[in-house]
Amino acid sequence: MIYLSPPHMSGKELEYVKEAFKSNYIAPVGEFIDRFEDDVKSYVNVKSAVALCNATSALHLALRVLGIRKAQVVVSTFTFIGSVNPILYERNEPIFIDVDEYWHMDVELLEKAIRENDIKAVILPHIYGQIADIFPIKKLCDENGIYLIEDSAESLGAYYKWGIENEKLKVIFSGTIGDIGVYSFNGNKLLTTSSGGVFVSNNEELAKKAKFLSTQAKEPEFIEYVHKEVGFNYRMSNILAAIGVGQMEVIEERIAKKREIFNWYKEFLDEEFMPELPNTRGTRWLTTVVFKDKNPFEVMKKLRENKIESRPLWNPMHLQPLFKGAKAYLNGRSEELFKKGLCLPSGTTLTKEQVKEICEIIHSS
Ligand SMILES: Cc1ncc(COP(=O)(O)O)c(C=O)c1O
Repeated sequence: MIYLSPPHMSGKELEYVKEAFKSNYIAPVGEFIDRFEDDVKSYVNVKSAVALCNATSALHLALRVLGIRKAQVVVSTFTFIGSVNPILYERNEPIFIDVDEYWHMDVELLEKAIRENDIKAVILPHIYGQIADIFPIKKLCDENGIYLIEDSAESLGAYYKWGIENEKLKVIFSGTIGDIGVYSFNGNKLLTTSSGGVFVSNNEELAKKAKFLSTQAKEPEFIEYVHKEVGFNYRMSNILAAIGVGQMEVIEERIAKKREIFNWYKEFLDEEFMPELPNTRGTRWLTTVVFKDKNPFEVMKKLRENKIESRPLWNPMHLQPLFKGAKAYLNGRSEELFKKGLCLPSGTTLTKEQVKEICEIIHSS
């Protein structure tokens, strides 16, 4: 079976897990959590990182620490439900925004939504390993006193090229531009800890608060379990962080392979692919294609008959029964993409030969 994006260990993870076992920190505390947070922090160049059990909880804490409750929160309609559920956890009203030609939140529609509503936060998903055109969105947020949360669950490692500094390319990573960013380390992501997430921010106070809330909000100055507010049990385990340390060592290698796979698909398929914003480097976590004539659901069926997994593009949130009647600012793009597109196998152990075979099946369907 060829899966969409299966885990790919570096080989070091088991060694680190054994070390964690030896230390007996089989718990949501321990040396590997600190190491993993430091690794993520230094890779994306951000002041604070908090390792959590998944990115959904990281988004929930983002809203919590910013005090976004019973408010209007904007999010792209073209995303996974994990971007939106946390909005509901805090009894907020989600408002959906359609996407631009790069498949990310459309800034003009966002501007209209801001004019017509009382929006307190924007959750901006960076999808399929690419980075959104975030700076115009950040400007709008800054001008209107709106918090910006980057859902980089799918886009750890994507960056803006910011020019040359000291003869080196200066880059700014997705997740580090808004007030708070989150990354997912779920089993299907670029890197995995089986399940995991990281909350990042350049505001150390917000990160400190997120860490406090993620460990049941135990008041730190008391040993006798004193609580003044609601907390959550969202911290990452030391064992999973040990896997994360091994995974972070190979991040650039994995991105290079993902991008190579994307180029193989481009070589073998005469179709449209998700565009990459100028001056950015996406990771191509998943290669996503939009067919000119083919029905993606027929192609998916044919691939499945050949034991190859593929998936539809995101089914827009404004079409979900859960969000019937929700406000949405639309331009038809997300519905079009859903009707015509497909996510292709993008695991980093794929060979060029396998990609060629996948494309031959696509041609024949
Ligand atoms: C865009 C997006 N947001 C949020 C999530 C939630 O991440 P997690 O599974 O780590 O909770 C995911 C993926 O799972 C995602 O793709």
